[in-house]
Amino acid sequence: MRRALSLALAAALSGCPGEPPGPAIDPLFPVDYASTWTEVRDCRLSVEHTLVHVRVWANPVALGAYERRDAPFPDGSILLKEEFTDSGCTERSGWTVMAREAGFAPTLGDWHWQDVLPDRRVVSDGTVSTCFQCHEDCGVAPDGHDWTCAVP
Ligand code: HEC
Repeated sequence: MRRALSLALAAALSGCPGEPPGPAIDPLFPVDYASTWTEVRDCRLSVEHTLVHVRVWANPVALGAYERRDAPFPDGSILLKEEFTDSGCTERSGWTVMAREAGFAPTLGDWHWQDVLPDRRVVSDGTVSTCFQCHEDCGVAPDGHDWTCAVP
């Protein structure tokens, strides 16, 4: 299982011979988020995936709305979910990100979604339907807030 996964990942990382690499998309979060953002949900078993543990980080713009859940997220809010294969949250397997960008997707909460590999390669980007279809359900009170789903 673990070996199959690393082989698939190795194949994805090496790309197909002869194919030019696609345009590189930058992740929506900085490399040093752990020293500049706030951890708003500590290491816990994910409700979304079995056997994945997660931590959630908020940038300074998102922090108040994420902690208090008393107002919508302002433009520029970014939330980052770190995913790990172990229960101590040390072996990172990737990230998912949601960023509120005014005008980006007005009927979908103006959220910009990304799925990012451990080497910071962005594998999904935009109004990703798998992401928003789940979050529009779990991201409502009492468990969620303004499209976010991690319970306090
Ligand atoms: C099947 C439902 C589901 C899908 C699909 C899903 N999520 Fe989530 N997401 C959750 C749940 C539940 C949480 C709460 C943390 C947990 O239990 O993993 C969460 C948490 C998050 C968070 C942390 C902020 C918060 O509290 O919601 C981000 C960021 C996030 N998801 C981004 C994404 C992105 C990007 C995608 C698509 C690549 C995605 N999610 C797909 C259910 C989903």
